[in-house]
Amino acid sequence: MSTQPEALPRSDPSLLAPEYVRGIARYEPGKPIDELARELGLAVRDIVKLASNENPRGPSQAVRAAIAAATEDLSRYPDGNGFALKAALAARYRVAADQIVLGNGSNDVLELVTQAFLRPGDQTVYSRHSFAVYPLATQARGATGIEVPAKDYGHDLPAMRAAITRTTRIVFVANPNNPTGTWVAPPAVEAFIASVPADVVVVLDEAYNEYLDTAQNAPSAAWVGHYPNLVVSRTFSKAYGLAALRVGYGIMDPKIADLLNRVRQPFNVNGLAQAAAVAALADIAYVEESRRLNRDGMRTLEEGFTALGLAWLPSHANFLLVKVGDAGRIYSRLLQLGVIVRPVANYGLPEWLRVTIGLPAENHRFLAALKQALAG
Ligand SMILES: Cc1ncc(COP(=O)(O)O)c(C=O)c1O
Repeated sequence: MSTQPEALPRSDPSLLAPEYVRGIARYEPGKPIDELARELGLAVRDIVKLASNENPRGPSQAVRAAIAAATEDLSRYPDGNGFALKAALAARYRVAADQIVLGNGSNDVLELVTQAFLRPGDQTVYSRHSFAVYPLATQARGATGIEVPAKDYGHDLPAMRAAITRTTRIVFVANPNNPTGTWVAPPAVEAFIASVPADVVVVLDEAYNEYLDTAQNAPSAAWVGHYPNLVVSRTFSKAYGLAALRVGYGIMDPKIADLLNRVRQPFNVNGLAQAAAVAALADIAYVEESRRLNRDGMRTLEEGFTALGLAWLPSHANFLLVKVGDAGRIYSRLLQLGVIVRPVANYGLPEWLRVTIGLPAENHRFLAALKQALAG
């Protein structure tokens, strides 16, 4: 005879989870190339994917060599403290190693901040049309996200400041922003950080930082010394071309870093990723070339959109948001033509598509397919 109490939902074990977990809408990633190739019966090489803001060049030769060398050590656990990578980052950004937390992608850093600081009932604040993980990570902790209306598709920082209440624990700012590509100049960002109460953590998400012109770069690592409630997050997934390896980092006050290090998995960044990131960080010329390629590709796409009579948003990142009308239909037609981009209806932008800037041939293939898709 079972001794299980009647109240336990034996038929549906998912009912055991808190309601706020059951209510989470899953993150929709860009469609994988293999999946579309299978669906269309095409070769993988015939598919163009411009959907997840990756560096179309992939990692540099030096990084590939570092990864190959690191495969010699696969049977050992990685360095759980990431000594070499933290030392390289600390030297580059003139911070102490104990101010850095490594993550399984910068997504991990965002999650760790919510894990460390949020209780059910707390609030977070973020902008409309900003990165989908902020509401997801908020909801996973039983907290409530306050979405602040955007201004010209970007962050309205005064309105975000006004939305902060006594229950707000975290405010997220993506700069440049995904999916809109908007960017706020450093003085306004710093003024915002200075205005936020000291008991609210500011997460400044700079995943696309490396695509900014050097003159636009904010001294955000140095700001951490002035604002102990600031967490700056960065990634190796974008300009460094290492999205598959999953490695990112946060720069913050050592006391916040200590908290995040307590809640993270002991070996959250794998050994290949650590070795690759150290090599990638040293390869400054590669990032500069990638930025140049991105700028040229952006011009190609902008000219192409103009020729097609389409509106787009000026972008500071490695993607563009283009207004195509019935974006769901155009997205499906592009898929049929072997081109994967990103619909952004889930970001409140049902008439727009987000396209990652690719290699020159990929950009031209996309523009030709877009012209065909628009023509019906
Ligand atoms: C604004 C922003 N932040 C963070 C991330 C997370 O990237 P990763 O976990 O690969 O570092 C992304 C990825 O698309 C992003 O667009």
